[in-house]
Amino acid sequence: MKHLISTDDLTRTDLEQLFGLTDNFARILERPIPKVPALRGKTVVLAFFEDSTRTRTSFDLAARRLSADVVNFSVSQSSTKKGESLRDTVETISAMSVDAIVVRHSSSGAPQQIAQWTDASVVNAGDGWHQHPTQALLDAYTIRRRFGSLDGLNIAICGDINHSRVARSDVDTFTKLGAAVTLVGPRTLMPPDLDGWPVTVSSDFDAVVGEVDVVYLLRIQQERLTAGLFPSVREYRNRWGLTTERAARLKPDALIMHPGPMNRGVEIDPEVADDDRAVVLDQVAAGVPTRMAVLYSVLGPGQFDDDGQTGAASTPEKPVETAVDRTEKHLEESL
Ligand code: NCD
Repeated sequence: MKHLISTDDLTRTDLEQLFGLTDNFARILERPIPKVPALRGKTVVLAFFEDSTRTRTSFDLAARRLSADVVNFSVSQSSTKKGESLRDTVETISAMSVDAIVVRHSSSGAPQQIAQWTDASVVNAGDGWHQHPTQALLDAYTIRRRFGSLDGLNIAICGDINHSRVARSDVDTFTKLGAAVTLVGPRTLMPPDLDGWPVTVSSDFDAVVGEVDVVYLLRIQQERLTAGLFPSVREYRNRWGLTTERAARLKPDALIMHPGPMNRGVEIDPEVADDDRAVVLDQVAAGVPTRMAVLYSVLGPGQFDDDGQTGAASTPEKPVETAVDRTEKHLEESL
């Protein structure tokens, strides 16, 4: 895996491999010194052309826990502000021999384009309405930790699907892992064309809420109200929010998820955000080992091919070494 641009790049086997690596890194993070030299000598640039605190911090910590050197490139201090083109900015960063560029950009497709201008590995940290692959990985990992697997689970994703890169990445990842996904929300916030989406759509949250194993809420942005896509915050909450009344109808072991930042009182009632079934902070916690697994997969010796294997053919005497085996060995050697 040279880049991670979209969840489309990942097969189910790749996802399972990444979860295996994430488990390893989560164990390392529980140690008194939560750091390994796995990416010592590598340089990771965090190029965030759009504001973000939690995703940037999570990638930053992940890279440091792997002993990579980290450079924060923030647009507010950058030459893009002075009119430099994205291509010149990327070529300038690449000329300093960096190994990976983690990109957040408000334009869909920017990370893909950047990958064509640099020899470094590119990791997408969210582009426009398109993709947010590491969010989907940490979401699926959080669900898997609770239920063992996503196979056969019913997951409702509620809210502003159309403008959500999280929804696009989650739908692809959750369904690839065997879950059934229902999209819930007003028609005005659904993608105009859902052909080819492996989902069911419902505009009746009350009909869905008692049946699901996971309810995943998306943030409602103020701009959508200004654009007239729903009448008022109060109306949105009443019809589409996870209110205390709706939460009372959820299964006792259902999970309540949100990528953050949450708007308490809009898509989720304040008390529901603090419900025992809400795993929003577990999602945040899963972000660091997930991003360690991704950075390690693109930069470390744990790179794997489409079969999830690292090359050599299997024989009965010598079974193929998987990326996870190899990582474990490499990590042990580096300790
Ligand atoms: C999400 C994003 O930026 O796409 N948040 C995040 O990565 N922490 C979702 C959102 O902003 O609503």
